[in-house]
Amino acid sequence: MSQSPKGSPKDIEAPLPGADLLAPFAGQTDDAWIAVIRKMDETYAELVAQQVALEQKNAELEEAQTFIAGLMSSMTDVLIACDPAGRIEQVNLAAERAFQRPPGDLERRHLRELIAAESPTTFDDLRATIERRARLSDRELLFATPAGPLPVSVNGAVRFDSRGRAVGMVLVGRPIGELRQAYSDLAAAHERLKQTQKQLVHSEKMASLGRLVAGVAHELNNPISFVYGNAHTLKRYGARLTTYLDAVHRGVSGPALAKLQAELKIDTTLANIAGTLDGMLEGAERVRDIVADLRHFSSERREAWEAFDLAPLVRSALEWVVKAQRPTIETQFDLGDGLVVVGHPGHIHQVLMNLVQNALDAMEGQPVQRLDITGRAGEAVTLTLRDTGPGIAPDIASRIFDPFFTTKAVGKGTGLGLSISYGIVQEHSGTLEAANHPEGGAVMTLTLPAGSAANGD
Ligand SMILES: Nc1ncnc2c1ncn2[C@@H]1O[C@H](COP(=O)(O)OP(=O)(O)OP(=O)(O)O)[C@@H](O)[C@H]1O
Ligand SMILES: [Mg+2]
Repeated sequence: MSQSPKGSPKDIEAPLPGADLLAPFAGQTDDAWIAVIRKMDETYAELVAQQVALEQKNAELEEAQTFIAGLMSSMTDVLIACDPAGRIEQVNLAAERAFQRPPGDLERRHLRELIAAESPTTFDDLRATIERRARLSDRELLFATPAGPLPVSVNGAVRFDSRGRAVGMVLVGRPIGELRQAYSDLAAAHERLKQTQKQLVHSEKMASLGRLVAGVAHELNNPISFVYGNAHTLKRYGARLTTYLDAVHRGVSGPALAKLQAELKIDTTLANIAGTLDGMLEGAERVRDIVADLRHFSSERREAWEAFDLAPLVRSALEWVVKAQRPTIETQFDLGDGLVVVGHPGHIHQVLMNLVQNALDAMEGQPVQRLDITGRAGEAVTLTLRDTGPGIAPDIASRIFDPFFTTKAVGKGTGLGLSISYGIVQEHSGTLEAANHPEGGAVMTLTLPAGSAANGD
């Protein structure tokens, strides 16, 4: 057995097979041997490298396959891959479930078997699509499943190999039953939503109608009680006059008639009749105006606004409220000239009546009952009403303008006066503020942009 040639690679330590046979040529063949050994060495190294690369590729391939299998089995849509003749090559879990077949069973079948005879898209249609190399998009197809025909919406694409030849088709079918259910659920939810919205609109309408009715009732209350009060007075006057006329008809005369005349206050009665009737008329006109305003309720016509002096309006408002209630209050006016504003006099009258009414209510039972009304004109017209009531308690100050906020007994206040007034003043681009006077009592301040009587703005 010969030794390894000197200078041979370190890793070749064992004698080479057949080295004995070549012993006679030793010396001459050393170089050739070394070359052969090196070549083998290189080839072996290459083989090893290729093996490693192959294993790596294999691992990658396996990973990709696992990934695709995972994707396919997690799909809820039915996936079928077939060759150009329609032989099924691969399906996913959803397909096996839909056709109730064990794993691998569908791969032995033909696509034609899976399509119901009455399907709107037939196997021939699919084949024609492959031939045309076209795509299928949202075509309705009926699969023949053991549970009966299963309607699906199918999308499909032709598969090509690396050389661009059509090698089959992939179909993805989404059961339409689920879609239809989802659509009908959606439609039902939409319908419910519309219904709820309708109800909301309706209840909002009813609420605003309620507020409107309450507001109208509130506003009608003052002029009606004014008319009512005057009607009572007239009734009393009528009774006195009837008694007097009866006596005249009975022939009573002379001092007896004069005595009766004085007793029945006939002269005062006759003098007051016209005023009382005027008062009734004014109240009735206000009722008429409120009703007329109602007609304009939805369309407040700004062009119908006019320039007017606030002073007579303040006096009239006070007169109305006071006459309707007959309280014994002291009033003091300090109204400058030219308190001209622009707007709707009827609405501003309403505001003033509300403010006066609140002042009277606040002063009820107070030892001093005085209402000071001051008006000043400048860039704006400012009107203050100061009463000698208890003032506005700090804890309710932030709420007095809220609709339906009242501290008054049930039946006495609706809590709408200030909120309606606030809305009206806002419409006139003015402000309405409540405060307490340092010496007691509430001070309500109404500010309105000044207008000019001449041009009406
Ligand atoms: N001058 C005032 N002094 C003291 N408190 C007042 C005065 N004006 C209003 N308030 C308070 O503000 C509340 C709300 O007033 P608002 O005019 O809005 O309603 P109301 O007078 O209670 O009822 P309504 O005016 O609807 O008959 C009153 O209940 C009262 O507590
Ligand atoms: Mg009020």
